[in-house]
Amino acid sequence: MPGLTRIRRRDFCKLGLVAPFALRVCHGVDLTQTSMGSADLLHSPLVGADENGNLIGAVVKAGLPNLQTSMPSFYELSDQDLTNLARYVHYLRQQGRYKELVAASSPGNADAGKSYFNGAGGCAKCHSAAGDLAGIASHYDAKTLRSDFLMPNGTAPKEGVSLSAAAQQHLRLLENYEPSDVDNVLAYLAQLR
Ligand code: HEC
Repeated sequence: MPGLTRIRRRDFCKLGLVAPFALRVCHGVDLTQTSMGSADLLHSPLVGADENGNLIGAVVKAGLPNLQTSMPSFYELSDQDLTNLARYVHYLRQQGRYKELVAASSPGNADAGKSYFNGAGGCAKCHSAAGDLAGIASHYDAKTLRSDFLMPNGTAPKEGVSLSAAAQQHLRLLENYEPSDVDNVLAYLAQLR
């Protein structure tokens, strides 16, 4: 999932002024602006499912002419530019989702969190409640556990540093959690003392 690594400065420069500027004007600096009929990119499933620009690239290249508020085509961008632009969008999305989910906190349901952990969340592929996460709630207070779970140490992407597959997986999850998934998983982890 190279789309989840951070864009390099020199690649950002190659994008020129128009596309990054249009992104911010039309979709907002935090990606949530919808005032021009534009999609909320912080929560759009297409962005959440995109890998390496494979979904974002086609939309940016072709534009969306058949809307009342058409999205222009950025046909001049190369495939490499489209991948880099997607990286930029993912980076902004990860920051925005972290900010949103680290702040929000409602009481979760531990049973639902356990099912998510062992099922849809795919956590059990890498973690175990009786193994590496045993006693985790006695090591961290709730606030630290929340932020550490959302973006484990070292996963905040740095320019030019490739991420481990596991770190990329945590970022992919971060881009796609429902707020209730986070609350439920944390209620479940809080029981691991
Ligand atoms: C692809 C493997 C993988 C998946 C899937 C995954 N994790 Fe992780 N997770 C890791 C790795 C590796 C780390 C340690 C990262 C680091 O600190 O560098 C980690 C870190 C964590 C931490 C912080 C642990 C600590 O001691 O600070 C928590 C909590 C956590 N994961 C919970 C979850 C939950 C809950 C899910 C499912 C929603 C999940 N993880 C999915 C691999 C994974």
